[in-house]
Amino acid sequence: NCVVKPLKETCIFVPQFETVPRCLNNSILTQIVSDEAMKQYGSTYIPASYVKYIESAGSRVMPIKLTLSTAEYENIFSRINGLLLIGGATDLETSDFARVSKIFYRLALKANDAGDHFPIWGTCLGMQLLTVLVSGHNLLTTATAENVALPLNLTQAAFSSRMFQGFPEELMQALQREPLTGHFHHYGLSLKAFNQNKELMNFFSVISTNVGENGVQFISTIEGKRYPFYGVQWHPEVNRFQWDSKLSFPHSPHAIQLSSLLAHFFVNEGRKSLHEFDDPKEEALKLIYSYTPVFAGNFSGYEQIYFF
Ligand SMILES: *[C@@H]1O[C@H](CO)[C@@H](O)[C@H](O)[C@H]1NC(C)=O
Ligand SMILES: *[C@@H]1O[C@H](CO)[C@@H](O)[C@H](O)[C@H]1NC(C)=O
Repeated sequence: NCVVKPLKETCIFVPQFETVPRCLNNSILTQIVSDEAMKQYGSTYIPASYVKYIESAGSRVMPIKLTLSTAEYENIFSRINGLLLIGGATDLETSDFARVSKIFYRLALKANDAGDHFPIWGTCLGMQLLTVLVSGHNLLTTATAENVALPLNLTQAAFSSRMFQGFPEELMQALQREPLTGHFHHYGLSLKAFNQNKELMNFFSVISTNVGENGVQFISTIEGKRYPFYGVQWHPEVNRFQWDSKLSFPHSPHAIQLSSLLAHFFVNEGRKSLHEFDDPKEEALKLIYSYTPVFAGNFSGYEQIYFF
């Protein structure tokens, strides 16, 4: 096993060495296949880029299927250290992806309230879903930024945020000037809609905005004020792990650094969680390692995809 130091009560990061007393597992919720070309391989999937993103920061990955019972999700929750809600094209209120996300969202609220730190990260559709879960409504509007890399319009809050804490000054500058964030969305949450919704205003700080093709200023990065919940309308994982030349994936040194630092940030949030499997055999079976990704470069924008 990977016990480093049996310090249950102090799971705090010490700069010189890690004191986390167990192996780290972050979970990725499987996404529903909507693309026709992908349907022959399975009904749910996780692009391998998200798996590599989490693994790159030193966490293992456990995929979560969408067909389990609430009791089974509660069981999984007590064994994982964070949850990543990925992009896709799925209904934000009626899909299984939304239903299962809501179960984990509620468990995470309760756990964090009780001092049991549990981070959630939403990317693209995952971020949109977080705003639906917090506000109880789908407040999205058209804010197309489809296949374009953009700099971020950082708010004042970005400079005291947890997400960008410790970013070198040069990267903070680059983030505002260079196209480091890949956008692949039709919808977005407008700044206006955000500012008119009390639940969202109380829950999240706006870290950055961008402007869609139609001129709508949309929220591109959010951070929970009280909860370790984070959202990006853009895709940090593509910077290092996707290469389709027809798609605007930022691969510059600053883009790589950004992707890397955010992966480390999220995994480090998971290090504060003490959830763990009690049965190593069960753990081994549940991890992503028992699945094999499919080469997908000739039928999708992804190089590799895990199907379930
Ligand atoms: C950046 O955001 C500020 C505050 O919302 C806004 O006034 C400004 O127009 C935005 N700039 C760009 C380039 O989007
Ligand atoms: C993609 O490439 C793989 C490996 O060469 C091949 O088996 C598969 O049939 C191809 N799929 C399509 C849709 O062209």
